Amino acid sequence: MDITKLDWNLLWKQAKSKKTWKSKKAADWDKKALSFAKRTSTSCYTERFLDLLSPRSEWSVLDAGCGPGTLALPLADSVRRVTGLDFSEKMLEILASKADERGLTNISLQHCSWDDDWQAHGIRPHDIAIASRSLAVADLKSALIKLTAHARSLVAVTDRVGPGPFDPDAFAAIGRPLSTGPDYIYTINLLHQMGYLPKIDYIELEKEIDYRDEQEAMEGYLWMFRDLDSEERKQLKNYLRSITTLNDDGSVTIHRSRPPIWAFISWVPSNRLH
Ligand SMILES: C[S@@+](CC[C@H](N)C(=O)[O-])C[C@H]1O[C@@H](n2cnc3c(N)ncnc32)[C@H](O)[C@@H]1O
Repeated sequence: MDITKLDWNLLWKQAKSKKTWKSKKAADWDKKALSFAKRTSTSCYTERFLDLLSPRSEWSVLDAGCGPGTLALPLADSVRRVTGLDFSEKMLEILASKADERGLTNISLQHCSWDDDWQAHGIRPHDIAIASRSLAVADLKSALIKLTAHARSLVAVTDRVGPGPFDPDAFAAIGRPLSTGPDYIYTINLLHQMGYLPKIDYIELEKEIDYRDEQEAMEGYLWMFRDLDSEERKQLKNYLRSITTLNDDGSVTIHRSRPPIWAFISWVPSNRLH
């Protein structure tokens, strides 16, 4: 075998075609926007991402797939300006209203997709370009080229490690196969093949997640599945009960056997081996 002959973008596409969980469209993200914003607001993810990025006050930052502002909002507090780009109108609405509440005036939003012509939307290169948990694209290499072309100093993305936020035990409990598609290792190899020197860090999230009650915990898990029938719902509920403890205040805590892990991958656009 000769690893220099491997086409990592093709391998990535092949692995993606086998995944059980198909990428969501803008309308799917619109529906998920509120619950996603709520779930992510209590996670340690944002703090860990910002620690690794070490924002500087003079930076302009492009946030591709910015969602409800998980990073765009705290970044706007510490950098010069932020551009948030997302194809979900609902996500951008949530971001805009939170920016208003906080009195932030240095965020501009672009309702567009990875595949749109960013130039036509007036999106120019920024100091930094990030894509956090948002590399949901048809062609990884084109997306990495595009993001890199929009960053002067640094690009940072987060990509799944293995199943990422999906809980494999929940899939096993209801007897559904789980194949989450290509993870960060393809991205690293592709970047290496493109001549960059990607750095990797890992963001390990909590194994324990608190919910207001059992119902909210169930909702926190349902996004992982599509079209559960009533028997599968029952099995999911039983699984959740088996990993839930009840707290004094009536809230519940879910204890996963493994934490979700994200790879934080960063590279310097001008630093290329070839
Ligand atoms: C998992 S959320 C991540 C949001 C945020 N970056 C974070 O880390 O919390 C993925 C986001 O990417 C957006 N997204 C997915 N596919 C996209 C595409 N093709 N073009 C633009 N945005 C997309 C979704 O609308 C969603 O807001």
